[in-house]
Amino acid sequence: DAPVPVIVAVDGPSGTGKSSTSRAVAVKLGLSYLDTGAQYRAITWWMLKHGVDVRDASAVAAAADRPEIVSGTDPVDPTITVDGADAAGPIRTQEVTDAVSAVSAVPGVRARITELQRAIAAGAPTGIVVEGRDIGTTVLPDADVKIFLTASPEARAARRGGELKAAGGGQGVDLDATREALLKRDAADSGRKTSPLRKADDAVEVDTTELALDQVVECVVTLIEEKRQAG
Ligand code: DC
Repeated sequence: DAPVPVIVAVDGPSGTGKSSTSRAVAVKLGLSYLDTGAQYRAITWWMLKHGVDVRDASAVAAAADRPEIVSGTDPVDPTITVDGADAAGPIRTQEVTDAVSAVSAVPGVRARITELQRAIAAGAPTGIVVEGRDIGTTVLPDADVKIFLTASPEARAARRGGELKAAGGGQGVDLDATREALLKRDAADSGRKTSPLRKADDAVEVDTTELALDQVVECVVTLIEEKRQAG
């Protein structure tokens, strides 16, 4: 018999290795993969491009249903398009990063994106690894396995700094500024009213500060396999 699809939620703040871990786990187990942060970035990019004032929650809410956002769920090559245009590059700009917490705090935006996420998860043939902030608590509360990744602010800033450096062709990155911006975004994401960043009661917390990527992947794969054998 074909195995029952397995739903894995991976939540946590930025710089904890969520994306790298989730993709590697999905590749290893033949599962689909969804980066929900990319969806919030995509809707934010659309708002900025269409002149919507991202500080104006009612303007953002009024426009929330307008962009067409499509996520490709192959963990080897995850894609995202907005109104048919490739958004992979533009959603990683500083402008989008600075605006995304405000846009993603708007309940109408969360309702719209949550609906997309649930449909994608329900349609994944073998199952899916979904990474974000509120997957285990709100989007997929019945997920088979819930992981909450953490790491020290220093480790997270160093990882983010490394990504920024790679993206910017190796130019100098101010680690203190990166750390401040990251902590500010965490505070906004954790402090918002609708679906804040929070560990689900039944999530397994993994502190990745001292762990290499393959160790985190191994840990998550083991948890999933245990669950599969038990269920
Ligand atoms: O994972 P990321 O840094 O690309 O996410 C960008 C922002 O999107 C993050 O600051 C908060 C928001 N987000 C969210 O509110 N809920 C999610 N499930 C994923 C991301």
